[in-house]
Amino acid sequence: MNILVINGPNLNLLGIREPDLYGKQDYKALVKLVEDTCAQEGIGVEVFQSNHEGVLVDKIQAALGTVDGIVINPAAYTHTSVAILDALKAVALPAVEVHISDVSQREEFRQVSYAGRACIKTYMGLGLEGYRQAILYLKEFLKQNEKSGTEA
Ligand code: DQA
Repeated sequence: MNILVINGPNLNLLGIREPDLYGKQDYKALVKLVEDTCAQEGIGVEVFQSNHEGVLVDKIQAALGTVDGIVINPAAYTHTSVAILDALKAVALPAVEVHISDVSQREEFRQVSYAGRACIKTYMGLGLEGYRQAILYLKEFLKQNEKSGTEA
């Protein structure tokens, strides 16, 4: 099982950026948490971050045929990007959405998630732990799907 973990704009500044909202742990700590979780679970993983919408779209497109599922925190593009939504729909890979902060309790403009419409589940407000939960959920989902695939 191979997955791709994608992070959108400004998440490279974790630890520096608004620590009251996003915590004191930096991006390196996030990458380590994801890699350690995947190693423990026997999952191959690539962790990717970009500040550019088109680069994120390219990365999602490139996931087709190379990974089994996606964990994505599109960051600010969550609330604006139909292109990222369309890319997720185009590849039709199981995707889980993560937000470090609880966007449901924040500004009005954060109440819309375009990407979330193409995701099977969303974790928010759990800090970096949300990524771990998302990976475990995706693993279970893929395992279940594999089973039902072989039964059919
Ligand atoms: C975020 C929430 C978004 O609204 C914000 O633009 C981010 C991070 C989160 O992880 O809580 O950059 O996706």
